[in-house]
Amino acid sequence: MAKIKVAVIFGGKSNEHDVSVVSAAHVIKSIRQVSDERYEVVCIGITKKGHWLKYIGSVEDIENGRWETHPDNTPCILSPDPVHKGFITLDEDGTYSRLRVDCIFPVLHGKNGEDGTIQGIFEMSELPFVGCDLLSSANCMDKDLTHTVLEASGIRTAKWVRILLSEMNRLDEKCKEMEEKLGFPMYVKPANCGSSVGISKCRNADELRAGIKAAFIHDRKVIVEEEIKGIECECAVMGNEDAFASTVGEISAANEFYDYDAKYNDQGSKTYIPARISEESIEEIRRIAVKAYHAMGCGGLSRVDFFLCEDGTVILNEINTLPGHTKISMFPQLMEHEGISCPEQEDRLIKLALDRSEVDYE
Ligand SMILES: Nc1ncnc2c1ncn2[C@@H]1O[C@H](COP(=O)(O)OP(=O)(O)O)[C@@H](O)[C@H]1O
Ligand SMILES: [Mg+2]
Repeated sequence: MAKIKVAVIFGGKSNEHDVSVVSAAHVIKSIRQVSDERYEVVCIGITKKGHWLKYIGSVEDIENGRWETHPDNTPCILSPDPVHKGFITLDEDGTYSRLRVDCIFPVLHGKNGEDGTIQGIFEMSELPFVGCDLLSSANCMDKDLTHTVLEASGIRTAKWVRILLSEMNRLDEKCKEMEEKLGFPMYVKPANCGSSVGISKCRNADELRAGIKAAFIHDRKVIVEEEIKGIECECAVMGNEDAFASTVGEISAANEFYDYDAKYNDQGSKTYIPARISEESIEEIRRIAVKAYHAMGCGGLSRVDFFLCEDGTVILNEINTLPGHTKISMFPQLMEHEGISCPEQEDRLIKLALDRSEVDYE
């Protein structure tokens, strides 16, 4: 039987490029370990400047960033024309060739990779792809829309106030509204970002104004949330209509909150699988994770992040549609805890992508 050709796309212009390449190396190694060599992997890297390159070098050089300068890299683009069923590579002699693939596996985080932008091209190409579609990716990336949809679905999130860049001329009024509705301390976040970039904890009016201005560097929309005091818990969800949730993991951040440094630079942050919480709380989080997954229209996979408060209240923080996928990331570890090895996870995700594209609407 012919091998299924899977294009793994990694890198990207987002500020999470460096995490993406580490995730991608892990995903590629895992796909290659799937039994009976079912899959052939095609590597497509997007540089920090946004150039798309077909890469044929070693997996190790993806992780360390050397892939970008490999002499055999070929510029390529994904054709939105479904007739092409894949990529067009632009060869050195000025000609171009077709590179057909059967499925796309995006291992991209953040802007343009996880926010529906690239998923839109996948949808136009009519190729099966791993993970959430355009709409759910975009809605989950936007923390204001996530809160809005979840609130309408009866799922608790932190109380929040939205502010648009165009409302900066009435910042006083907006800050007053925030103080009344939320109280200090507050968390200020760009609506569309990730890796805690642009997020600050504000304890007073001066910090709030500074935090809002700093968040506007990253987005034209900012959300301000009440502080939630609780244990940070994460739950991995996999599947389409039949999605299931893993056990719950716990994050104990090294810094005051789980900021960029605590996530990637500080070895002091700890994770616990399963979380050190009651069996009832684990079940409650799993139930809400699946409910939120369907409310947001997710497919394939997502990692749903929560706070568990002391009184047992479960508050959903955010949904990550393309969660970190390195060896030490929470998503693969939670699924491994469910007895699903990394190669099996990738195998299932690719199957879910192929299944979804075979749905007959008639
Ligand atoms: N409302 C809140 N109350 C308390 N801590 C928060 C709140 N919002 C965010 N945090 C802290 O900030 C971190 C990053 O926020 P999050 O919304 O998850 O953004 P990102 O998408 O960048 O991961 C969280 O993991 C948590 O530690
Ligand atoms: Mg987060």
